[in-house]
Parts: sequence; structure tokens; C-alpha cells
Amino acid sequence: MKESTHFETKDHSTLQQVPGGLLIAFEGIDGAGKTTQAKAAVDALRRRGFDAIYLREPTDGPHGTRLRQLMAKGRENVSPQEEFELFLKDRAEDVARNIRPALDRGQIVCIDRYYLSSMAYQGAIGLDPEAIREANEQFAPRPDLILYFHLPVEIGATRIRSSRSEGQNLFEHQAYLEKVAEIFEKMNFPQMVKLDATLPLDSLHQEVMRRIVEAIKRRGISVPSGAKDNG
Ligand code: TYD
Repeated sequence: MKESTHFETKDHSTLQQVPGGLLIAFEGIDGAGKTTQAKAAVDALRRRGFDAIYLREPTDGPHGTRLRQLMAKGRENVSPQEEFELFLKDRAEDVARNIRPALDRGQIVCIDRYYLSSMAYQGAIGLDPEAIREANEQFAPRPDLILYFHLPVEIGATRIRSSRSEGQNLFEHQAYLEKVAEIFEKMNFPQMVKLDATLPLDSLHQEVMRRIVEAIKRRGISVPSGAKDNG
């Protein structure tokens, strides 16, 4: 497996596995702080002795790289359907190469965006979110836990102003993200938890860990105390 972050370790034997693995999706609009929180969760889980890894979509593979370029350029010359299909191909590769093997090894996979992002972002350019969900669930394992980072669009926009798509003006981009957020808000996955992404990083991290610990315990696995979650 291609190692995607520095969290990956060569020695899995000293770390505790969860039979069948645990898949945790970090979702939300741009600027919600998913990446910071997903990486902090992986660190905290590893300190508690769990075998956890960080993955992200779009991936660093060929389709994912193309998608990042496309999104940065403001989606020139690509139809919503083509964009959807590219995300789907990227995800199929991620599932086959990274996600399923990690779950089979019993790892806790913290994934920074997953198919809910396709439902929301490609849904917001006119595709049917339910059809997107069905296409993905043909091959992509369902997350055990979905952490949705809720943030007002204006706040997200000020956080990411520098990395915003060059092909769109601020107004267009915010209007788009409002649609994205609306679709996220309407989703009803039973395993989806809404978190307040305006909280200070540390409080948000504690909340994230509380939810993850609950999900691990639901598997009948005891979890050591998290006194060092901040350290
Ligand atoms: P992201 O990695 O969160 O952005 P960055 O790391 O550059 O801040 O995702 C890049 C963009 O891809 C983001 O605007 C959301 C979009 N996206 C989709 O439109 N559909 C998808 O299925 C996924 C995974 C991401």
C-alpha cells in the first residue's frame, strides 16, 4: 500500500486492531477544519495504542491529482457528470488500494472527505444526491461514523480565502457552498453526527474523540483513558 502520511507505521504489531476495521468519515464544507481534526484524531488514537491511519479524497493518485487541478482552475471544460465520474474513479481506486486493505487489517481509518462530499458537491451542480449515494455504495464501504463539521459558509470563506478557486468570484463560490451545505444538512445517515466547527480546536477535538471512543466501544472494545489527548 502506498503510504499516504507520516502516521503510517511499519510496525502494526504493537498497536491494537479493531476486527473488521472502523471507518470514520470527516465531512463538511471547505474551511470547516476537517483535515486538522482528522489528523489530530489519528494522533490521539495512536497515543491510546490504536492502529489508526489518515486518508483523504480526492487522493494523491492520478485521478485525484487531476481533480485537485480541475477544482483549482474553476472546472473549465468539464461537465457535472464527468466531474462525478472522476471522483467515482478516484474513490474506487482508494477503496481497492487503501480503504478495504486497511479495514481488513483492523485499522481505524480516518478519511478526510468521502462519498458524502460527492453527494453534496456534485449534488450542488445539479446531479441527484441519492443517485450519487447509490453509485458509491455499490463499491464503497459505509462509514461506521460520519463526523459532519457544521460551519456557516461566511466563516468558512474567510478561513480559506487564500486557497479559493481562482475561476470563481467570492460571491459565486459562497452561493455554491450554501447549496453544498444545504445538501449536507438534509442528509440522514443514522451514523452521522453534527459537530459545531466554530468551537475552539481543542474543544472540537475532545468532541471528536468522544464520538470515536463511543464508536470503538460499540464494537465491544475497551478504550484507555484519553488524558493525553491534548499532548
Ligand atoms: P479538499 O481536499 O477538501 O480541498 P483542499 O485540501 O484543497 O482544501 O477537496 C478538494 C475539493 O474537492 C473540495 O472543494 C471538495 C471537492 N470534492 C468534491 O467536489 N467531490 C468529492 O467527492 C470530494 C471527495 C471532494
